[in-house]
Amino acid sequence: MPENDVKPSHNLRLVGRKIVITGAASGIGLRTATLFMEEGASVILLDRNADALKAAHEGRHAVLTGVDITSENELAEAIADAAEITGGIDGVINAAGIMMTGPTAELSSQTWRQVIEVNLTGSFLVVQNCLPWLTRNDSATIVNVASGAGLLPNVPGLAAYAASKGGIIALTKALAADLAPNIRVNCVCPGMVDTPMADGFRANVGNYALKRIADPLEIARAMLFLTSSESSYVTGATLAVDGGRTFH
Ligand SMILES: NC(=O)c1ccc[n+]([C@@H]2O[C@H](COP(=O)([O-])OP(=O)(O)OC[C@H]3O[C@@H](n4cnc5c(N)ncnc54)[C@H](O)[C@@H]3O)[C@@H](O)[C@H]2O)c1
Repeated sequence: MPENDVKPSHNLRLVGRKIVITGAASGIGLRTATLFMEEGASVILLDRNADALKAAHEGRHAVLTGVDITSENELAEAIADAAEITGGIDGVINAAGIMMTGPTAELSSQTWRQVIEVNLTGSFLVVQNCLPWLTRNDSATIVNVASGAGLLPNVPGLAAYAASKGGIIALTKALAADLAPNIRVNCVCPGMVDTPMADGFRANVGNYALKRIADPLEIARAMLFLTSSESSYVTGATLAVDGGRTFH
């Protein structure tokens, strides 16, 4: 079977669903996109790296959109065009994100703003632009990707990243209240995941109960649960998928 073929699952938990997935050119967003296609979803895949997005999903049945989630006008246009093609949107996965670290004394205000802009403001803008379609459904879902750094930021150098991810956790709860009962909103908090973002951190698993890094599929499966009807009574939840790093 060619590398890019999608093998349908026996469960097909997302048949008929139309899901926007950001950050779909790499890592968690990429693996989630594949899993969701396997489960029968129609997917709209967004990433600012258009070439990587195309290369990752060449030959697959997906709407591919090279767009930066912080560019408001382009984002609005991209989502409207894509929804026209799929005939609507009833789910969002906010997986696009960046990590920039450094001691607080040396963190430039530009870096701070960039991290907050992409991780927090970008996620909000994606939701806001999808809302006209999400509200037409009575069982739409949003899953935001936060981080263990938003739950327990006990590692030096994480001020901007942890603040953005803590913001995602609060945003998730606020949206769950705001958009209920038609739209369920949840977030996952991954620990260390084997993606390009974790380059340079992989050796540091001593404080993880499971003593290993996660495969992106293990995060994608949590998002599948929160997107499918199997989580029909779950909203406003923060699900740690972190090998036990933050439990206490
Ligand atoms: N990898 C980890 O260990 C880890 C742990 C906890 C949380 N996370 C979170 O998971 C999410 C996915 O991370 P990943 O590990 O897959 O990283 P990754 O770098 O492999 O993928 C992130 C993707 O987001 C895209 N992106 C970044 N900024 C964008 C923008 N402004 N507009 C559109 N696309 C943009 C990138 O081009 C890239 O394809 C991020 O929110 C990250 O903070 C990752």
